Amino acid sequence: MIILRSNSDLEVWQLKRRKSNLSIGFVPTMGALHAGHLGLIEQASQGNDVVVCSIYVNPTQFNNREDLTKYPRTLEQDIELLSHVENVVVYIPTDNEVYPNAESKKTPAINLREVGEVLEAKNRPGHFEGVLTVVKRLFELIQPNRAYFGLKDYQQLLVIQMLAKRSFPDIEIIPCTIVRSENGLALSSRNQRLTKVGLKKASEINLMLQPLVGLNGKDLEMELSSVKQSFVSDPNFELEYLSVNDEKTLEACTNSTNKNCRVFIAVWVESIRLIDNMKL
Ligand code: PAJ
Repeated sequence: MIILRSNSDLEVWQLKRRKSNLSIGFVPTMGALHAGHLGLIEQASQGNDVVVCSIYVNPTQFNNREDLTKYPRTLEQDIELLSHVENVVVYIPTDNEVYPNAESKKTPAINLREVGEVLEAKNRPGHFEGVLTVVKRLFELIQPNRAYFGLKDYQQLLVIQMLAKRSFPDIEIIPCTIVRSENGLALSSRNQRLTKVGLKKASEINLMLQPLVGLNGKDLEMELSSVKQSFVSDPNFELEYLSVNDEKTLEACTNSTNKNCRVFIAVWVESIRLIDNMKL
């Protein structure tokens, strides 16, 4: 396993890899790695000569200071996990390497349309601007052939697809399925901050969404408000949003005859914000 801790290390490595004409599958992460991240790495490893996994907790995408300071950081454990993967290069930059000057901090000007207005964009102002800025920088630095993103952060995937289409047409964006625990909870680095009781509670989210997932022509509005009610009436959940949207445009779905509907949820458990989504 190669570990690159500076951009000069990265440049030397890039020279070598270009000489050998190796294809790169890129998996950007913020660390605290779990089986969800490893799923992306596995897929990248199958489709490329080398996998570059970046570990960088990007401050510009956190709209909440406490979330940033409390974000789990488990670098030693992450490196140990990655050491079992073949042909992996771990890139661990500092803030100065990612953002060396004013130009690097500029957010790419992309018209995200509805995708930039609803759900996470609406509830976490500035979040996608931060994601766009860091992923643009990472794409410039790593210059991958393919980049892997999880459907877990569905709206982020759409934003990145728009970025690639506009500014990095040679990078293929590969969506990867959501990895869940046995009881259906979507794996997330933030789950590590939940107590045993909170984890049990969080595991109910998937089950509670099932009436929407298996709607089968039933009244969408009615079912949506009934599922909403079940979250609102449980004091262990604080519901931020529950919404059914078209998976291409993110416009709200009004009836379940639309074949492209997805349910999206952001819900707080033990003061920790969890998100999930599923196709209807
Ligand atoms: P992070 O939350 O660490 O996630 C890194 C990648 O892993 C993202 O593409 C995310 O969708 C994917 N992922 C996380 N949990 C998953 C799961 N249970 N199943 C499948 N994929 C999962 O997303 C970010 O970091 C950052 O915003 C980043 C893109 C690195 C930019 O800073």
